[in-house]
Amino acid sequence: MTQTPETIRAPKKRVAILISGRGSNMQALVTAARAPDYPAEIALVISNRPEAPGLAWAKEHGLPTLTLDHQLYENREHFEGQLQSVLEMSKIDLVALAGFMRLMTPGFVERWRGRMLNIHPSLLPLFKGLRTHEQALAAGVRISGCTVHFVSPEMDAGPIIAQAAVPVLPADTPETLAARVLEAEHRLYPQALSLVAQDQISLNADSIAFQRVGSEGINHADALFSPSL
Ligand code: GAR
Repeated sequence: MTQTPETIRAPKKRVAILISGRGSNMQALVTAARAPDYPAEIALVISNRPEAPGLAWAKEHGLPTLTLDHQLYENREHFEGQLQSVLEMSKIDLVALAGFMRLMTPGFVERWRGRMLNIHPSLLPLFKGLRTHEQALAAGVRISGCTVHFVSPEMDAGPIIAQAAVPVLPADTPETLAARVLEAEHRLYPQALSLVAQDQISLNADSIAFQRVGSEGINHADALFSPSL
């Protein structure tokens, strides 16, 4: 077959997913990446907790996995030194944090600037840190959601790639709101990773750059969605 610009595909970006627990966002990324035209492949799943249920799932599904138990390292720099070696050896292009509950040092974050994504269960910059759904309910917001952002040295403060909104209902508890937001996370993270893997969204200085595709620009709808109620 003659190769036309349409048939020549850029090589898939090699992604490492870092988890600490359940790994449902990892599963959403793995599922999306099975599609032949998805622009990224999941090359490695790393857990800092040997007992993480997500790690067992990844093993069962034949993904390359690695445990890097942070407790076995003297300090954050040693842990991250080992992590960096593994990522380099595996020729990783992008790192996707998916419920990875360790803060990274500024040095490590800088190395992966514009190439490390995180998902957070709130509409940042609201409700950083933990217990985001409790925070949302206490604040009385009518809409909450999730955010995929590039990781920056300050926690939950990096440039925003994509967001999804969900309604907060009068009878919500932190658990029911978390479940609604989690469903949105599972849709949003694969979309956001795809945009970054295709270089449609990148980091330019300290803000997000949208690459123009054709005369229309990118489909911005891929980078956000809203409640259907
Ligand atoms: C997800 O809700 C994710 O957004 C959140 O932890 C959960 C992990 O679930 N991450 C953070 O709070 C990071 N600040 P999962 O392991 O099933 O993907």
